Amino acid sequence: MSDHAATLAQAQERVQACETIDDLKDAEREYLGKEGVVAEFLAQIPSLANEERPAAGREANRLKQSVVESVEQRRQQLAEAQIAAERSGEGFDATLPPPRTQRGSLHPLTQVTRELEDLFQSMGYTVLDGPEVELDYYNFEALNIPANHPARDSHDTFFCEGDGHLVMRTHTSPSQIRAMESLEPPFRVVAPGKCFRQEATDASHDHTFHQMEGLVVDRDISVAHLVSAMKTLLRGIFQRDLEIRLRPGYFPFVEPGFELDARCPFCEDGCRVCKKTTWIELLPCGLVHPNVLRAGGLDTEQWSGFAFGLGLSRLVMLRHDINDIRHLLASDLRFLEQF
Ligand code: PHE
Repeated sequence: MSDHAATLAQAQERVQACETIDDLKDAEREYLGKEGVVAEFLAQIPSLANEERPAAGREANRLKQSVVESVEQRRQQLAEAQIAAERSGEGFDATLPPPRTQRGSLHPLTQVTRELEDLFQSMGYTVLDGPEVELDYYNFEALNIPANHPARDSHDTFFCEGDGHLVMRTHTSPSQIRAMESLEPPFRVVAPGKCFRQEATDASHDHTFHQMEGLVVDRDISVAHLVSAMKTLLRGIFQRDLEIRLRPGYFPFVEPGFELDARCPFCEDGCRVCKKTTWIELLPCGLVHPNVLRAGGLDTEQWSGFAFGLGLSRLVMLRHDINDIRHLLASDLRFLEQF
């Protein structure tokens, strides 16, 4: 056997024995690389006698070509084998834990808001949205809180830069006026959203909190209508009938105004939530003040209404036994992942 034939046989054996692409690359380098076996053959040619050189050149090239072909063939085989292995599921461990999927969830405030929206919509209410940056007029003036009215002091207000006409709304009540301006009475609306107050924060006060305003405008609205709506609301929130009571409450935009309490849903004879009183403060409410109806462009001879301001943040805290309002908007995953 010539040197070439023996070398080719060796090369083919070496290539055929390769089980990985990396190994095949090594074999390729050994035979076809700059310092490989084939290069050695070529390097010998100049030292041969003139008449032997052409034949030696041809032979060396043929050897090179053959090695290239067998490497290519093996490369093909290895690639196909790998695909077949992947298809057969070889090397797949069905007992390994799956990659962890990250699932989000609705914020408890969003959950409560949506539930109440559904509840009120089922009672014929329309859900309204209102701006968080509000005109002084809507936040105070039209709600029967003129400039220098003492009630302004209790709404520690964030004023926007400028001439003081723009404020961060301190409650959702401005939606009352916007509703009267945009809807034809009779109507019923709820308007959930963020409110802002510039006050020192503690476990029960945050600078940003959520309320849901309710407003019903119709003919001959009385406190009885208000009470009945509030009882339905309570049933929706706590899934049962709770005794309620009204205490007088002062808000310039309602007359009469009330604080509505409900029997504590968590105990019979006093607990931490109701501070041993068996009553929980639920919401402020009242009959819409005639000045407010007039500001909304309504004829007070024809129309009357009731309004309430439900503290959504407080409700979420009650429901989930959360002891600090500041948890709600802190974006702490350890808190949020519980819902
Ligand atoms: N807007 C009032 C507040 O946040 C609450 C309220 C709403 C009272 C509607 C009466 C009627 O203080």
